[in-house]
Amino acid sequence: MEKRIAILPGDGVGKEVSRGAVTILQAVAELFNHKFHFTYGEIGGAAIDEFGTPLPEHTLNLCKANDAVLLGAVGGPKWDRMPGHVRPEKGLLKIRKELGLYANVRPVQYYSSISGISPLRKEVVEGVDMVVVRELTGGLYFGKPSERSVQKGEASVVDTLFYQKNEIERVIRYAFELAAMRKGKVTSVDKANVLESSRMWRETAEEVARDYPHVQLDHMLVDNAAMQLIKNPRQFDVLVTENMFGDILSDEASVLTGSLGMLPSASVSVAGPYLYEPIHGSAPDIAGMNAANPIAMILSAAMMLRLSFGLEDEAEAIENAVEQVLDAGSRTRDIALFGTPFLTTEGMVEEIKAALLDNEAILNIMSAYA
Ligand code: IPM
Ligand code: MG
Repeated sequence: MEKRIAILPGDGVGKEVSRGAVTILQAVAELFNHKFHFTYGEIGGAAIDEFGTPLPEHTLNLCKANDAVLLGAVGGPKWDRMPGHVRPEKGLLKIRKELGLYANVRPVQYYSSISGISPLRKEVVEGVDMVVVRELTGGLYFGKPSERSVQKGEASVVDTLFYQKNEIERVIRYAFELAAMRKGKVTSVDKANVLESSRMWRETAEEVARDYPHVQLDHMLVDNAAMQLIKNPRQFDVLVTENMFGDILSDEASVLTGSLGMLPSASVSVAGPYLYEPIHGSAPDIAGMNAANPIAMILSAAMMLRLSFGLEDEAEAIENAVEQVLDAGSRTRDIALFGTPFLTTEGMVEEIKAALLDNEAILNIMSAYA
């Protein structure tokens, strides 16, 4: 198979973890006889520095011309004082909007080998296997007006939570499709006791549910959901929610795994390339120190192989390699118990690559005997 992949490393640790993902993808290409062509583009602070805008036109065109996009992370203290429209984050929001990436899929998986690093007790997090589906191109993040003004002599501000019904429907439908292939349960999270937008969200969820008689639908208020996520996370299969709620709840959900550095994501569109990114940010405090955990990014690459290219075996090979190195005790700093040794970013990438190659060697031997 021959595929073209746009790599947007972005800022901070985004650069380091992107390099790691490319190394692993190259190994996969070699093992399974594929050709992956990587083309690099700028986004975020890196793009502001070079081109004066967080998402240059040529980066956007590059994404559209490729089969999938892998993005590292954007942002950093250097650009924190920039006005809203030239902040690095604006580049991320714009690319989501321009590529029509309406659903952000964030799987949260329990790894027994690192259960000790979750601040939650093992009995609580053991066996967690859920997916947060976050609406990604609407709601508070994009509503207009979003501006400051002076009202009756008083400094004032407004952000707008706007949705068209079809935007709500398509992301909920995506959640139902996903649940139908998993444990058959959708939890729709809203604030219907207060917000009109949430009441439309809930209504829409009910309507979509009629098309999926084998999927169970529950509604949960967002404040309760925040509590249930740490109290009884195993009750969730697919959790679907509005953009802002999803941003907050998915960071919370990462604690179940133990580290933000473990969580990949996929953003899907109706047509055009999907985008894959770790859910962690640019982590300026450890940027350039070869200390970041590359696993979220590498698992994002695995999601790309599965969802964009249909390469299920290849995706599984990566996921197995990650699990194998974790089982063997390899750690980066974020997932190492206090006072225990840990690897650099590159060190972890090399271990995962070695495990990948090793698995393949075993597979070959097995097939030779079959
Ligand atoms: C995320 C991040 C982004 C978001 C930021 C960097 C704009 O937190 O992908 O979750 O809020 O969507
Ligand atoms: Mg976030």
